[in-house]
Amino acid sequence: MTSRRHLLTQAAWLAGLALTPAAWTSAAAQARMADDPFGVGIASGEPTADGVVLWTRIAPKPREPDYGMGRAPVVVAWEVAEDDAMDRVVRKGEALAVPEGGHSVHVEVAGLKPDREYFYRFQAGGHASPVGRTRTAPLAGAAVEKLTLAYGSCQKYEAGFYSAHAAIAQERPDLVLFLGDYIYEGAATKGALRAHPPTEPVDLAGYRQRYAWYRADADLQAAHAAAPWMTIWDDHEVVNDYGDDQDRSNPDPKTFLRRRTAAYQAYFENMPLRRRQIPVGPDMQLYRALDWGNLARFSFLDTRQERDHRTCDAVSDGKRIPYDCPDRTNPRRSLLGRPQERWLQGRLKQSPARWNVLAQQYLMGELKLEDGRVSNDGWDGYAQTRRRILETWRDARTPNPIALGGDIHCFFAGDLGLAPGQPIASEFVGGSISSLGAGNEALAAGLARNPHLKYAEGQRRGYGRVELTAKACEVTFRGVENAFTPKSPVNDLARFVVEAGQPGLKRA
Ligand SMILES: [Fe+2]
Repeated sequence: MTSRRHLLTQAAWLAGLALTPAAWTSAAAQARMADDPFGVGIASGEPTADGVVLWTRIAPKPREPDYGMGRAPVVVAWEVAEDDAMDRVVRKGEALAVPEGGHSVHVEVAGLKPDREYFYRFQAGGHASPVGRTRTAPLAGAAVEKLTLAYGSCQKYEAGFYSAHAAIAQERPDLVLFLGDYIYEGAATKGALRAHPPTEPVDLAGYRQRYAWYRADADLQAAHAAAPWMTIWDDHEVVNDYGDDQDRSNPDPKTFLRRRTAAYQAYFENMPLRRRQIPVGPDMQLYRALDWGNLARFSFLDTRQERDHRTCDAVSDGKRIPYDCPDRTNPRRSLLGRPQERWLQGRLKQSPARWNVLAQQYLMGELKLEDGRVSNDGWDGYAQTRRRILETWRDARTPNPIALGGDIHCFFAGDLGLAPGQPIASEFVGGSISSLGAGNEALAAGLARNPHLKYAEGQRRGYGRVELTAKACEVTFRGVENAFTPKSPVNDLARFVVEAGQPGLKRA
């Protein structure tokens, strides 16, 4: 296939347009597949008041370079029912999984009832998928009593088992948020607990294989099948510590943007995203909104794609920069880029919701390190972006702001403010699903240096659970007993409450 024709076919897939009737016919005529085509599971996501995205990817051999698929398209039938026995089917249809899309399908189901639980499954190649559970969001402005969500991040496959996901699946929350580092792009580590392909992905085939490898995990599949997900990426979905067109280990932006194009496409293919998020070349709009009746307004941030380049390089050791490096607080620099900042300001200034949640990648509060320096990679490297958000929260009296984050492989709970002892918001970093974190001795010293941070735990893996009501936001940190063995029990590590109208967290 010429590259131009390839691009056109890909564009047709990406735009969700009907491909040629011939493709449908040849796909429909396909014989029964020998292996279960649902080797990477099923998922749903992006709930609205009338619908949800259903996702799967036809991958009978997820660990092989071509995931067990040739070039043939596959017809995938889907159905949505009100009951988990799939008796009361309310919507059904067919989608075409084509090689240009990594044989993924993203079905945007509409016409469902608001604030309702639904069940779904797929059929392809003579096989039925397991039944997944999902739900729609409440109508805009609707009174909502309660929302329960689980959130996680950082699931380095080599580093541990996914008992955290097994626990999320058991909880069957209303919503799951995944806040970045869904895959790690690195080459295989010798002696790792769990093995993955040896080489670092740099092209579409490589990233597709890395996602399929991760998604072959049964616990991860169970968490996807248990609730609708909202996902954002951090750096490892492309490469460590990248920002905009800058890659630490490859200074040529052109080469890097080719890699970013492949990584973003693989991300789209492997997440239950809407067509609105389809990448265009190296660009993909990932920041987006979710409103949950009158109870919660979520803003999902992308802190990688549009950020200004990291700064203070002349006085940096690569990761850490001096606290007083002036460019760190230069108001012209942004972690989000102007369009995203403007969009976010609009959402924060006129929010009808009781709780206003930033779903983002990092610890948002300042973290002074033991040498008095700060990281150049997260909010501390872009302190004015953080300040602008805090000032908006304060000046617009945004109701009850909360930040949820990931990235640092530790649980953190703390308050966010512009002056000591005057919290405007609280934040909760939900640990890591499996990636290894810092020692608790170092973290205790970190808390002492940064008094707005109230709790840290780095030795346990896990996730966060959030329960929102009109009265309170309750956050429970859930810790895996031992992520080095499969099927480990998960228990509560700590519990916090933020009461509506009273900024600042309390230990519960
Ligand atoms: Fe991470």
